[in-house]
Amino acid sequence: MTESPVEPTRVVALISGRGSNLQALIDASSDRRFPARIVAVISNRADAAGLERARQAKIDTAVVDHKAFQDRTKFDQALLKTIDGYCPDLVVLAGFMRILSNDFVDHYAGRMLNIHPSLLPKFRGLHTHERALEAGESVSGASVHFVTSELDGGPVILQAQVPVQAGDTPDTLAARILEQEHRIYPLAVQWFATQRLELQAGKVLLDGLSLVTPPVFGNQEF
Ligand code: GRF
Repeated sequence: MTESPVEPTRVVALISGRGSNLQALIDASSDRRFPARIVAVISNRADAAGLERARQAKIDTAVVDHKAFQDRTKFDQALLKTIDGYCPDLVVLAGFMRILSNDFVDHYAGRMLNIHPSLLPKFRGLHTHERALEAGESVSGASVHFVTSELDGGPVILQAQVPVQAGDTPDTLAARILEQEHRIYPLAVQWFATQRLELQAGKVLLDGLSLVTPPVFGNQEF
């Protein structure tokens, strides 16, 4: 990476918990050549451990507590206002455990990413590792995707594959997949920040070419 002559891409991260993916993004952006900066971390829970990671890195934090709002629409409006106060180019969901309304998702169309611990379209939603093991999958993994109104259903940008091992439990599989999450999320953010990535008519374009199948980290040169 050579140092970018333009202003780094402004990223707002939304979290609800531990924040290990957030940490991976913070670590990546501590390299001056990384083309994006996290300008704020926003959580719906005041006790999210990831907020402390942000404070350590001297990143602004905010809490928008969903329990303080009458309904999803009001919560989403307050969240949107807080996010937009930081003028982001990109919003990343990093373990953000709220379902977002269509208006919210539309507002950030083509500039909001999520990471999910399965090889989408398999195992959307919760308990992915349990379900992958129950289904007898020999390979699982993680996916970075654009966020659309369909839960975990947006177009996939990049995946990492992780072989399931004999004797794996949901926890052991989750841990190995998480290591890969920490590699692919910063890479996808880097692609976005260097304008290599675009969402057009519901399709992911990488370097101007529509992805027929999502690239697999480690299998291809990017
Ligand atoms: C990760 O497994 C991510 O894929 C999923 O939620 C988890 C968040 O973990 N969306 P962390 O808070 O980033 O450690």
